[in-house]
Amino acid sequence: MPKPHLPRLAIAGLAVVAALLVGAGVLLWDGGDTPSQPSIGGAFTLAGPDGKPVTDRDFRGRYMLVYFGYTTCPDVCPTTLSEMASALDKLGPKAARVQPLFITVDPARDTPAVMRQYTAAFSPRLEGLTGTPEQVKAVAQEYRVYYARHDTGPGPNEYSMDHSSVLYLMGPDGAFVAPLRADEDAAAMAADIAKHVS
Ligand code: NI
Repeated sequence: MPKPHLPRLAIAGLAVVAALLVGAGVLLWDGGDTPSQPSIGGAFTLAGPDGKPVTDRDFRGRYMLVYFGYTTCPDVCPTTLSEMASALDKLGPKAARVQPLFITVDPARDTPAVMRQYTAAFSPRLEGLTGTPEQVKAVAQEYRVYYARHDTGPGPNEYSMDHSSVLYLMGPDGAFVAPLRADEDAAAMAADIAKHVS
């Protein structure tokens, strides 16, 4: 008796289509520039270059240019940080309004001392932040940054970190202003920042 099954199949089909539409809708909504967009950023407590606690409130009154990565990253992080430093050089007087921050997703290896030495190679203005694994996890979640350890050998330090390469401009009140393209060159990045910084 196949006939009674047909409506059920149709209903099942509709349910699948509805689920797909909802899924697509959620994705569009998540990435869309709508008032209901979920917030990016928030309160954090991390460790600064001297190992002392640093919170988001320490940067109030300045824009924060936030990038997540790790110091042994082979290419994407150093390239992005280098463009970021050079973008700030091109920004002129507005650069004083912007605090560049590099937050590690590899707190086990990226101690405050390691971060300090690494960021100095790009710009004296770049501040490196690390923390406990829990602190790093919390800030990454707030900024919607994905990261995962990827073993490359048997040794305890033989691993790399997969991570999303996102660059955020946050306002003087700590609120999200705009995402920036992390793969832009310095001139384009400077123009992008200038648009948003008053
Ligand atoms: Ni990286």
